[in-house]
Amino acid sequence: MQIHSSITDLRAALSQRGRIVFIPTMGNLHAGHISLMEQARAHGDTVVASIFVNRLQFGPNEDFDKYPRTFQADCDKLAAAGVDVLFAPTEADLYPEPQEYLIEPPGIQNILDGEFRPGHFRGVATVVTKLFNCVQPQVALFGKKDYQQLMMIRNMTRQLALPIAIVGGETVRAEDGLALSSRNGYLSEAERAEAPRLYRTLNEIAAELRAGNADFAGLEQAATAKLAAAGWQTDYIAIRRRHDLAPAADLDQPLVILAASRLGKTRLIDNLEV
Ligand code: PAJ
Repeated sequence: MQIHSSITDLRAALSQRGRIVFIPTMGNLHAGHISLMEQARAHGDTVVASIFVNRLQFGPNEDFDKYPRTFQADCDKLAAAGVDVLFAPTEADLYPEPQEYLIEPPGIQNILDGEFRPGHFRGVATVVTKLFNCVQPQVALFGKKDYQQLMMIRNMTRQLALPIAIVGGETVRAEDGLALSSRNGYLSEAERAEAPRLYRTLNEIAAELRAGNADFAGLEQAATAKLAAAGWQTDYIAIRRRHDLAPAADLDQPLVILAASRLGKTRLIDNLEV
């Protein structure tokens, strides 16, 4: 596996590489990331991953400084997964001057996770666009674990006519149902044992919806109260239309249940399509 940190070197390495498939990450890789790497091969000739912890998408009181950085272990995992080229820029490589031109997403950046993480999706949209310009892929893979992020990137790619096909990968979970996440490492042993309740809660709501219960607000409130009784502080549990993440109006359209809730200091997100 080749590793490049400079945009110039990366561009030189990627000329004449056929169809390029790209998977951006912030590192601290787990089986969820690796499943995207493994799916990538089917979409093109050269698989490119990136590792960059993007300061622009972290709020002032978020975990940018303590975000886990495990570069050597990540490289071993990427090489074993058959990744051809890793782009691992430093902040000076990717942001040699303050990034003043920003991609401003529309209303989707202010709902759900965007409501609780002001500026987050602007930071994601900006870095993903910049990474797309560095790598110039034909295909890019993103996980459904970050459902709103995947939808925003699909919409942005379409509206800006970027010549890139966006592919979504299914969420990879631990055996007890907890969605794999770099932030799971922040959980204490007791919190880790409690954490699968979030996905169980989503499944309980899904069962109610399938049984014909259309009291969306009631289901959201009951789930929030049950989580609170078990020690969780919930930012949102929301039953939404899949195609635009607007509140569900009836049971006839494809829906998705999205949740963000905190266990101690750790904020977990998850979702389930119904
Ligand atoms: P990061 O959290 O490292 O995730 C990188 C990619 O892996 C994202 O597309 C994410 O949805 C996917 N992923 C994470 N956990 C997953 C799981 N359990 N199953 C399947 N896929 C999973 O998302 C980001 O980085 C950043 O916002 C980024 C897009 C790199 C921009 O900085």
